[in-house]
Amino acid sequence: NSLISLAKKMPKTELHLHIEGTFEPEQMFAIAQRNQVELTYKTVDELREAYQFTQLQDFLDLYYQGMSVLLHEADFYDLTMAYLTKVHSENVVHVEIFFDPQGHLSRGVPFDVQINGIHKALKDAEAKWGMTSKLIMSFLRHLSEVSAFETLEFAKPFLPSIDGVGLDSSEVGHPPEKFANVFKACRDLGLKITAHAGEEGPPEYVWQALDVINVDRIDHGNRALEDENLISEIKKRGLALTVCPLSNLKLCVVKDMKEHPIRTMLQQGLKATVNSDDPAYFGGYMNDNYIALIEKSGITKQELLQLAINGIELSWMDESQKTTHL
Ligand code: HPA
Ligand code: ZN
Repeated sequence: NSLISLAKKMPKTELHLHIEGTFEPEQMFAIAQRNQVELTYKTVDELREAYQFTQLQDFLDLYYQGMSVLLHEADFYDLTMAYLTKVHSENVVHVEIFFDPQGHLSRGVPFDVQINGIHKALKDAEAKWGMTSKLIMSFLRHLSEVSAFETLEFAKPFLPSIDGVGLDSSEVGHPPEKFANVFKACRDLGLKITAHAGEEGPPEYVWQALDVINVDRIDHGNRALEDENLISEIKKRGLALTVCPLSNLKLCVVKDMKEHPIRTMLQQGLKATVNSDDPAYFGGYMNDNYIALIEKSGITKQELLQLAINGIELSWMDESQKTTHL
């Protein structure tokens, strides 16, 4: 299939990727053993069999359990380097990755341990392959805004290595407006802002991401399609949607890949991009997401190219760096 070979060889960016969601069971068991941590699941196969989700929360419960074996800087380095090595082999040239500091701070793992391990791997990938990156600290929305402010304090000594802030975890019941003040503080520090919105939550949450948080892009955004005025506003602001096809399928945000809305988004003039979200849990990395679209959604060559171009143009690279990839 010529579209598949095109998808594999075109230079790609990843703009929606949780580093803790790249934790493959084999590596999880290896790090658990070296840290002498017990896992609830006894084997790699038993763990993989548990990856059957009917909604976001089912996944999140396993995701927080999985990341709990990460204790030392070397663990964060090894996790990040394994992911970067994988996507380098798929012609990903630039990554913008999330990490969830509160998922580790709550277990007594200091902020510097987390970020130093991740940052070193990002710099090594740049030195080895010229792969560039941005790092996005994400607040857990099921926790309080006070907790987000505490996390921001821990982050302050490391701001030169932090490019943006995000908002993730359990969406329904935790609207963006809950975090209005902390995102204002982040904006004042010069950080870029993004938020998960419209994955499970209603269009109203996407409106809040725009009007209360003033985001620079929207993660997922599927449910924005339910509101024509919202579509117009996202277009007017030129915001990217970081869409995650296999994630949407695994978390039952879409029933069937044949019904995935990404082509509709492009047809409506929205700047959609393709991303893998939590590839170790959702059954595929960057190329697998493109292949699923090619095999199931009837995507055209033109649409495929548009998605890859959007990924470069809507990234947070500086303009001169973008032109080297276009
Ligand atoms: N949605 C919300 N929170 C998350 C996700 C997601 O897809 N992945 C990791 N944390
Ligand atoms: Zn996500």
